[in-house]
Amino acid sequence: MAVPLDAIRAIHNAFRKDMTAIDEAAHIAARGRGSLDLVLKRYTFFNEILVWHAIGEEESVFPALENVAPLVAEAYERDHRGLDSLFESLNKAVNASDTLAIARATAAFDFHLGIHLNKEEAHLYRIFNERVSLPDQGAIVGEMAQKIPQERFPEVVAWLFPLIGTDDRENMTRIWQQALPEPAFSRVTKLIQAAIGNDWAELTPRLPELK
Ligand SMILES: [Fe+2]
Repeated sequence: MAVPLDAIRAIHNAFRKDMTAIDEAAHIAARGRGSLDLVLKRYTFFNEILVWHAIGEEESVFPALENVAPLVAEAYERDHRGLDSLFESLNKAVNASDTLAIARATAAFDFHLGIHLNKEEAHLYRIFNERVSLPDQGAIVGEMAQKIPQERFPEVVAWLFPLIGTDDRENMTRIWQQALPEPAFSRVTKLIQAAIGNDWAELTPRLPELK
């Protein structure tokens, strides 16, 4: 069975994977051994999703946590502002076509993001999981998902699924299956199928009800 926090973990894993790939490409380009194509193609959408996720945490997760564990969330909100300023540095470096500054910005972004997500999972979400009931967790994660503008949802699926492993894919699919009415869910399964191509065959045996 998938639980609401599995959705957060899957998104966090996608952030880690995407940012690491962006940073690797920026590093290679700074050494003159490759192009910046991957960085330029991915960094703005990556940040859009990161911002939707942070807003969801700040408007839904953190207030609920404040009720059961005062003073925990504030430090994480400060981390988010740090992520905002890292995006500004990266964007400025891209606009200036400064390859070295781009690599410095992605290295800092990757490092801070990794520490932030690891801390959230080891501390903030652990407390959240212990002190907030499962139905409330479900409602909160559902609220977070609504921060994604509906018309952008297909792009989010196309971004998320190639970046995550089979367990995360299974959990996300199950969570949407529980949360969405049938016609919407079958549209989502089409999006997933398009996003992961041949890997779909690996996912379906885990979800026999999809066939
Ligand atoms: Fe966060």
